[in-house]
Amino acid sequence: MARARRPLFCGNWKLNGSIAESLALASDVRNGVSTVRDADVSVAPSFTALYAVAKRLEDGPVGVAAQDCFWDEKGAFTGEVAPSQLVDVGCKQVIVGHSERRQLFGELDAAVNLKARAALGAGLVPIICIGETLAERDAGETLGRVQAQLDAALAEMSGDELARVVIAYEPVWAIGTGRNATPAQAQEVHHFIRTRVAIRAPEVAAKLRILYGGSVKPDNVRALMAEPDVDGGLVGGASLSAESFVRIVKEGSAA
Ligand code: PGA
Repeated sequence: MARARRPLFCGNWKLNGSIAESLALASDVRNGVSTVRDADVSVAPSFTALYAVAKRLEDGPVGVAAQDCFWDEKGAFTGEVAPSQLVDVGCKQVIVGHSERRQLFGELDAAVNLKARAALGAGLVPIICIGETLAERDAGETLGRVQAQLDAALAEMSGDELARVVIAYEPVWAIGTGRNATPAQAQEVHHFIRTRVAIRAPEVAAKLRILYGGSVKPDNVRALMAEPDVDGGLVGGASLSAESFVRIVKEGSAA
């Protein structure tokens, strides 16, 4: 059955890797996915390796994403990086609102919205992360939490902007734990997200890519990708090995 949307697999390298290590990993990913035609692939190195990795991957099929950005273009914001600076080093995408940023660095929904809109304004594709904690899931609040984060993140976007967004559903309890959401759990939330966006923009919702993130591995990606509303993966730990990330891309795009 043909897919409704072209899959996207993004490797989130988090805080890992020297420039040399990042370049080696990037080259191995590029070589490993050279025969993949049915999916988009990107990697998200640390800020310090972005420029080198983007140069290495230039003109090839593997895109480069940043792991975060600020919402203003310039000024007295010590330590921040502007979306236009990410474009300047060769990024095409940026992850915003990752749960590690929300939980460890106090990032609020309003900031996620500002970052996503600033990214769009600079021509980047924001990969907006949303997802519930284990306590929220256990309390039956999963869909309410996801709805609140989704609505806040997409607030005040135009139809054109919405059409360029990627959503990543990442249940917090599945990130880095080795415990992935079951395909049925992922599908329930992905379908909910698509339905929610459809209220506002049905055509956009039909094309919206919704990635699943949280312990995606070569041996579980097929089942996740078999769900109709799962359009790819945001892969953390398993993207630090080119071998496993390439297998995820191949298995996932063949599912
Ligand atoms: P994980 O991380 O694959 O290591 O669970 C996913 C993410 O944080 O994006």
